[in-house]
Amino acid sequence: MRLAILGASGHGKVVADAAEAAGWQDVVFFDDAWPGLQENGPWLVKGDTNALMDALSEYDGVVVGIGNNAIRANKQVQLVNAGAAVVTIVHPAATVSPHARVGSGSVVFAQAVVNACGNVGAGVIVNTGSVVEHDCVVGDFSHISPNAVLAGGARLQEQCWVGAGASVRQLLEVGTAAVVGMGAVVTKDVSAGSVVAGTPARVLKS
Ligand SMILES: CC(C)(COP(=O)(O)OP(=O)(O)OC[C@H]1O[C@@H](n2cnc3c(N)ncnc32)[C@H](O)[C@@H]1OP(=O)(O)O)[C@@H](O)C(=O)NCCC(=O)NCCS
Repeated sequence: MRLAILGASGHGKVVADAAEAAGWQDVVFFDDAWPGLQENGPWLVKGDTNALMDALSEYDGVVVGIGNNAIRANKQVQLVNAGAAVVTIVHPAATVSPHARVGSGSVVFAQAVVNACGNVGAGVIVNTGSVVEHDCVVGDFSHISPNAVLAGGARLQEQCWVGAGASVRQLLEVGTAAVVGMGAVVTKDVSAGSVVAGTPARVLKS
């Protein structure tokens, strides 16, 4: 099973590791820094985005390994439009309820949990040790960073970034492209495009 990862980043390395643990045997990267960039840790960088587009039929699956939400969204849409087989990667040490949904192009890393009736969209990063509790909705191309917790029924719109170790109270809404700083304790809804941080979380930028 051959997997191409677009984006030879540090995050991409964790995607590659999770993919191998999940059974992908031949994992390679593509990145627009090629040919200057030839390796990403132990994995080869074989070409740029155009090279991947030309070689899609050689891969059983493709996934975007870029941490930036907007860029990941852009690249995944490009791949889908080109007919790529965009796959979901779930590390075998993650727990995803059989009654949860995880969309295409999303990655769920080791020790992460998506509990019953969680609804994780497309191209989402559910990072190491993070928790998406029951009935949460996570919009497309969002990122739940390591050890962050979304309590039951929290709703994130598209392209949200919840920082490492942050917590979001149950049933709250986080607006499109909002950022929750690392370690924040979110006790109120977060408006679209704003940045909040602290305990309890306050608006840093609106
Ligand atoms: C919240 C965040 C996005 C702000 O980044 P920024 O806009 O570059 O802000 P700055 O670093 O300029 O900080 C602005 C102020 O907010 C404070 N601040 C920044 N992040 C904070 C946080 N998480 N909690 C509390 N205060 C924070 C800074 O100390 C600074 O305060 P000051 O003006 O009194 O000096 C960023 O700090 C953050 O938490 N990012 C998430 C990182 C993460 O989780 N990475 C995981 C990747 S897998």
